[in-house]
Amino acid sequence: MKKRVLSGIRATGRLHLGNYLGAVKGMLELQDNTEYETFYMVADVHTITTPYNVEELRKNRREVIVDYLSAGLDPEKSVIFQQSEVPEHMELAFYLSSVVTIAKMQHLPTFKDKVKQYPQHATMALLNYPILMTADILAYKAGFVPVGIDQEPHLEAAREIARRMNQDYNTDFPQPQSFKTEGEYIPALTGKGKMSKSVEGSYINLTDDLETIRKKIRAVPTADTSGGEKSEGLRTLFIFLKLFSPESSGEFEKKFESGSLQFVELKDHITEAIFKELEPIQTDRKRLETDPAFVDKIIKNGNEKAREVAKKTVKEVREKMGLA
Ligand code: ADP
Ligand code: TRP
Repeated sequence: MKKRVLSGIRATGRLHLGNYLGAVKGMLELQDNTEYETFYMVADVHTITTPYNVEELRKNRREVIVDYLSAGLDPEKSVIFQQSEVPEHMELAFYLSSVVTIAKMQHLPTFKDKVKQYPQHATMALLNYPILMTADILAYKAGFVPVGIDQEPHLEAAREIARRMNQDYNTDFPQPQSFKTEGEYIPALTGKGKMSKSVEGSYINLTDDLETIRKKIRAVPTADTSGGEKSEGLRTLFIFLKLFSPESSGEFEKKFESGSLQFVELKDHITEAIFKELEPIQTDRKRLETDPAFVDKIIKNGNEKAREVAKKTVKEVREKMGLA
């Protein structure tokens, strides 16, 4: 049997470079490896765990899929679908919640961070976030999950839940592991923290044009570099250089060491390299935008295929738990 893979991204907006390098690149790598069977969804139900706008969600649960397709996810190779269209995820999450304590969920760092960010929204849905994510993965018995490093606490919870289920109910869930890429942690353009769509000025969108990228990259703070030490901003630029133009990494490092590095030259080089990778994605997106019926068909097919698999798992779990 092929090894199963599942991943998803919340429908909170359009994808940025952090999502692309940390998650989508890993999805692509496993999709193109015939040893794996890949399931990729938009996590639209997870989007309602923090404050959101209804019309934005309606739009984004489709837009994320268009981003996926433009970035190279291929419906011939992967099942591409919307989480909410497979209600078995939510059903399974409830069954799984019976082996999880409240204390355990309250202590997850990801939960604490979100409560800090939205103190008025410490909801049950937020507390259940990792259980639903576990259900997403286990509904397909997936052992591999391409995500960025910030998702590790969720995967740890998923492994523990799988273990408990196997022990208590004799299920055969795998212990899901993250599948990491070279870009598992992309820093913010501001030189502080990670690139994230919730931090203005921190990210580059997959749809940004050359001039927008140039403006954003030129704004990365480098002036504070002194005494042979790279500042945070400059370190960020070198990370981009290594990811998008590895062949010129050595040359710029040498210039930095000898004190002859021109920041603008480095920044413009990175800008061109990023745009070179994004340009074909943008061309594909424009083509997909002209054919909404084609996209709709892919989504409908994906939703149906995913549901077939998830239904089978849920049926098995119900039987093992005495619910059938
Ligand atoms: P954001 O923080 O922008 O809201 P999400 O939490 O929706 O992003 O993340 C979606 C996926 O992209 C996850 O797999 C996450 O690990 C990955 N990801 C997000 N930001 C980064 C980053 N800066 N570096 C690497 N991976 C990231
Ligand atoms: N929690 C993930 C994020 O913020 C999104 C997600 C939901 C996910 N369900 C998943 C990722 C299942 C991998 C597998 O990005």
